[in-house]
Formats: sequence, structure tokens, C-alpha cells
Amino acid sequence: MGDSLEERIAARALRYVVEPPRALDPVVDLASPAELQAIFDQAGSLAFADESLPVDDDTMVDAVDLVIKHSVHTSHPRFINQNFAGPDPVSVVGDWLGAALNTTGATFEAAPVFTLMESAVLSKLGRFAGYVGPGSEQIPTLPPGLFCPGGSTATLYALQLARHRLRPDIKVSGATGEQFTLFVSAAGHYAATKSAALLGLGTNAVVKVAADERGAMIPDALDAAICASKADGQVPFAVIATSGTTVTSAFDDLNALGDISEAHGLWLHVDGCYGGSALFSPTHRHHLDGVERSDSFVWNLHKMMGMTQQCTALLVREPALLADCFALRADYLFQPDKLHAEYDSGDRTFQCARRIDVLKLWLAWKHHGDAGFAARIDHAVAMAEHAARRIQASDGEFVRVTGTFTNVVFGWVPPALRPLDLSPASIGQLTPEVHDALHTLAPRIKGRMQTEGTAMMGFQPIEGLNTFRLLFMNPEVAPSDVDAMLDRVSQYGDELVAAGQP
Ligand SMILES: Cc1ncc(COP(=O)(O)O)c(C=O)c1O
Repeated sequence: MGDSLEERIAARALRYVVEPPRALDPVVDLASPAELQAIFDQAGSLAFADESLPVDDDTMVDAVDLVIKHSVHTSHPRFINQNFAGPDPVSVVGDWLGAALNTTGATFEAAPVFTLMESAVLSKLGRFAGYVGPGSEQIPTLPPGLFCPGGSTATLYALQLARHRLRPDIKVSGATGEQFTLFVSAAGHYAATKSAALLGLGTNAVVKVAADERGAMIPDALDAAICASKADGQVPFAVIATSGTTVTSAFDDLNALGDISEAHGLWLHVDGCYGGSALFSPTHRHHLDGVERSDSFVWNLHKMMGMTQQCTALLVREPALLADCFALRADYLFQPDKLHAEYDSGDRTFQCARRIDVLKLWLAWKHHGDAGFAARIDHAVAMAEHAARRIQASDGEFVRVTGTFTNVVFGWVPPALRPLDLSPASIGQLTPEVHDALHTLAPRIKGRMQTEGTAMMGFQPIEGLNTFRLLFMNPEVAPSDVDAMLDRVSQYGDELVAAGQP
């Protein structure tokens, strides 16, 4: 008897994890939507007919091979495109094991081991964030937080908690008609605004506070914005500090923001989705000094730490507030008289069923230890420093625009335009011709990378000008990968200019 379909698929998945694409392997085998549909027509089609008949195993395996071939290889060291990359292999298989044991984390009854694992990991994360002391209980019945399906959802929950602390009656009676406001830096993530819309606060409730050149919130501007909001008769209720902004990896000054939040009696939430993992590194954790003063803290372990998507912890300083805010005590699920009901976590959150996102993190953390996690962060920063040095030494071919910690934002300048100042403050002074030439080059260079499969690098507008962004987290990235990626930018840029484009 041959292998079953699931064994054949699992063997391919395992081989991919153990021997992922590297070096000169393509990062992506790009195909257009129409080409992809035509390619999959050779393997049973992507679409489902109105009546779909079972597909034989060999065709299914052909389809799996095509899925692998045409997916973006995010573990490839030349995928430096977004703030996730380089999944930890132990985490990948941990995710599979969690799926194989298919359960929900809502109750101890259905997830005895995972309930304790969540508590153990949250307790440890809580110690890193200073929410609980070093000698505190290692597997508490009420851990200092919960796992959430992603950073945006955790932001929503944090803001719900913040409003609940101020106006607990809204849970039962609904909106009061007051105009609540919350404050986040202009460089902060849009999850704040989406959450405000979902909470019925309205997107206008989000006050974008000015950030400095690096992307960190200006504390005086926050204080002024809160005072202005109060003077307008609005009800400020929360401040969101960002630890590691998406584009420049800037860290807000948590002590300064803590002082201001305390003075105004506001909830301080820290968006550490990206940069929260700096806490693992004794060398870099200073970026989050003051985090222990915050009320909540969201930490995406699926970003810098390479856990598979998604793996998000929401830490809260007062964990009892979670049940107060979310619990409805469904008597068919959270029966108080069943065995070990005091460990049930499901009523402390909005969700009913919850994925087991902790197992992969628990396995990877036990495997690497604290020192292994710290090394991952230190390596990422070292690669950013290498990139910055290369850019600095390029005689004006590459120009650093901004970026701190693990992020390096830069532009490529055609020979005829060198030297060029691309600091954010000077971008507005570029002539329209120079601006347009640079602005259209970045997406075209990126397009060449994708078409040829040589690399994937992010780009985004800074002050309206498209610039490249290198951001590091994958431990497989070596200085030679950074060099190779900059070489590709240089090569494609030269070729586009020589061809008279744009
Ligand atoms: C700073 C920051 N906050 C929040 C988020 C949202 O996290 P998620 O994608 O898990 O919803 C991101 C995602 O990139 C982010 O960079």
C-alpha cells in the first residue's frame, strides 16, 4: 500500500521546513492571477465547479507542489519585505501539532495542558514587561493576559478594557452619547482607528499626535492634544504608545507618556506588536523603559520572534478586569461546578473558541531559551547596522532616509542626481521632476525583483516619496544577503535608467 494523501502532503511540508529555499533559489516564482489559474488547471483547477467531484490523490499532490512552487518563500533570507519573516522551524511544526490535537483554549476541560502552558508563557512574558515581579507565581490561575488572534484584535480588546474601566455601564446599557477620544502617534498603526470604528467611537475619536523625524510621538504634543480635547468637551480615555512603529521602528518614550497618561487619568496601552520583542534582549530592552507603568501591552510574537502567524499576547496589568469586561458566564460552557473551572480562560475574552497559539511559542522558547531569543533580536539589529554601514559607504548611490533599531529606510539615487539629501525634512524641497523620477523607480525596481525572483524588499512613501525599507528579524539573513539585495537595487536601478525609464 502506498502512502496516504495526508502522509504525502505532510512529507512535502516537512521537507519544505527542513530544506527551505535559500541563496540563489527564487524568493517567489511570480505568476499573474490569470497565469496562476491556468497553471492550476493542470492539477484539478483552483476553482470549484457547481458540482465538485472528488479529486484523485496524485492530482492533489500535484496541486500541493504547485502551491509550494508559487507561494512567496517568506523564510528565504532575501525576503525582507514585511515585519514578519523567517518562521522558526520548531514553531512551524508546533503549529501542526496544535492543529492535530484540534481543540479550543477556552476551558481547562478541553485544553488542560494548553491552559497551563498559556498561563506559564503569559506569566513569563508578564515578568519581561514588569507587570508581575520576578518571584511571582509561574503558573497562576489568573495569568496577566491572554492570547489573541493578532495585534489588531488585541488593540480592540485593550481599548474595550480602557473604556470599560472608565464607563463600566456601557457593557450593559450601551453608548452614553459622550465623545470619547484616544491618542496615538501619527506614525502609529491603523489598528487604533479600525478599533475605534468597531467600538462605535467613530474614527474621529482617534487623535493623531505629531511624531518626530524618527517616528516617535512628541510628548508635549500629546499633552497639548489631550488638553485641547478636554477643552472641547470630549472625554479622553486612552493613550496608545508605540514600541516599534511599522515603518521606522521608532519607540515612543514610555516614561514621558506614562507621566502624561497618569496626570490625566488615562489608560496607557503599548503597541509593542513589532518592537515589544526588544524586551528579550538585555542590550536592546532599554527601548521599552517604563513599559511596566502601562495598563496593557500587545506583543506579536509572530513578527520578530518568527512564530507562525498568528501568535499575539495581550498583557494586562489588572487581569481581573478582563472577566469584568468580557464575561457573560454561559452556563453550558463555563459551569462553575465542573472540575478545575477556576482555570477556564474563555470567558475573559470576546471569542468563544480560541486557537492554540501558545504551543508553538512554548516549544520554541523552551528549545532556544532566553539567550536564544535574545540572540535573535541582537542579530536583527546587527544586520540593520550592517545595512546602514553599506548605505553610508555607497558614495551617495544609496541614501539613508530614516529608521532605527531593525529598520533601515533608504532611497536609491540615479548617478545623474547624486549627491541628494533625502532626509524627511528635505523631501518636500525636491523638484517635481526629481521627485517623480525617484518615486516611480522604487516600485519598478521592486517589480524587477519579483519578476526575476531574486529578492523581495518593501517600499513605502515617506513624506510622499517612495523609499525602500529593509527590516530585519530572520536569523538566516547574513551580511552577504544584505549586500546582494542592495546590489540588486543598484543593478535594476542602473538598467532602468539606461533604458530611459521612467
Ligand atoms: C506596530 C503594529 N501594530 C499593530 C499591528 C497589527 O498587528 P496584526 O497584523 O497582528 O493585526 C502591526 C502589524 O504590522 C504593527 O506593525
